[in-house]
Amino acid sequence: MHHFQYRNGELHCEEVPVSLIAREVGTPLYLYSHATLRQHFKAFDGAFEGLSHLTCFSMKSNSSLAILRLFAGEGGGVDIVSGGELYRALRAGVEPSRIVYSGVGKTVEDVEYALRSDILLFNVESSQEMLQLNKVAGRMGKKARIAIRVNPDIDPRTHPYISTGLRENKFGIDIRRALEEYVLAAGLEHLEIRGVSCHIGSQLTLVSPFVDALKKLKALVGDLEEAGIHIAYLDLGGGLGITYHDEAPPHPEEYAAAIRKELGTEDLSLILEPGRVIVGNAGILVTRVVYTKSSGEKEFIIVDAAMNDLIRPSLYGSFHGIQPVRVTNRGTVRADIVGPICESGDFLAKDREVQALESGDLVAVMSAGAYGFSMSSNYNSRPRAAEVMVKKDRYYVTRARESHEDLIRGETIPDFLNG
Ligand SMILES: Cc1ncc(COP(=O)(O)O)c(C=O)c1O
Repeated sequence: MHHFQYRNGELHCEEVPVSLIAREVGTPLYLYSHATLRQHFKAFDGAFEGLSHLTCFSMKSNSSLAILRLFAGEGGGVDIVSGGELYRALRAGVEPSRIVYSGVGKTVEDVEYALRSDILLFNVESSQEMLQLNKVAGRMGKKARIAIRVNPDIDPRTHPYISTGLRENKFGIDIRRALEEYVLAAGLEHLEIRGVSCHIGSQLTLVSPFVDALKKLKALVGDLEEAGIHIAYLDLGGGLGITYHDEAPPHPEEYAAAIRKELGTEDLSLILEPGRVIVGNAGILVTRVVYTKSSGEKEFIIVDAAMNDLIRPSLYGSFHGIQPVRVTNRGTVRADIVGPICESGDFLAKDREVQALESGDLVAVMSAGAYGFSMSSNYNSRPRAAEVMVKKDRYYVTRARESHEDLIRGETIPDFLNG
């Protein structure tokens, strides 16, 4: 359910015509619906009502300050993976006591920053990281609260690039070695063991891999208790999928019910790290047709958004719905929707039946709220798109479009070149 709907053949975001925003703000443009964001957060978080839990929005999926502030206001925390994300989270007003930090390559500087900020939990992903964290915490006269991110070796049955819980993936510590790592951690003076965590992958459309992972984590918690190591938090990561095309992922209610059932009466606080399921269908990318052309064999619709704005189709072959902002009776065409970047891999859709479009027409690339802007770049020296949030009948520019000046900020030409 989302608030991007047609009224009299005109695509609206809540009560505002998309064409109006495109005209006033320009394109390409990321557009988010406040009501959808809020509704999705509440649907997910509310599905765990009655269970002790913390919903830590995975901000790698979308790190817009406005969106983080919205979720913080709903009582959410965040899952971060870098010092930069910590900075954004704090600037957005997220409580440090609601921040968990994952990632296989946390640097000393990032760890110091997180310790200074007094975040809730470090999800430790290797023995070396654990020893380093202990050392840094000791030097700072602090104790670092940790969970060990275990790799449960479960096939999430998703795209290989977004599968993380298999032994062949770089993430976490092999669950078969977890007990010895916890014993090692228990002997380290500047660490405080608080949890067990995992994240098995993204865009999962089945509940069973989550349940299988939880079973393995529960068994580990039992072994740890026997070894005298008490666990307070169970972090199940994120990964619940959404409908981009014809997928039928479980509703958060179904996902939560399965977890609730498997968890039973365990006295544990849950941490959940959803990203895509909350923001994915709450945002679209609006772009304008620059030209159309035909190779004789193929039709191309060239738009002003490109792989630097939305890399998912090029990177994973992902599907995004392509919808006209204004419905016409021109009929349809089968075409590739491509950007202006000098790469054959620069496409938003391939061989897609779409409304026949002409230069100047506006197009909505659907389901672009997650891993859209946050994965965008300046490739081909293209300024990054503007971001806008709509609330009812008003829109707010939450990030200005980058300028040419922004493109060269921080660059210098060394004197020896100024002959
Ligand atoms: C550690 C961790 N938690 C949470 C997520 C969020 O996943 P999703 O957006 O699929 O919910 C990811 C994404 O890869 C992740 O790596």
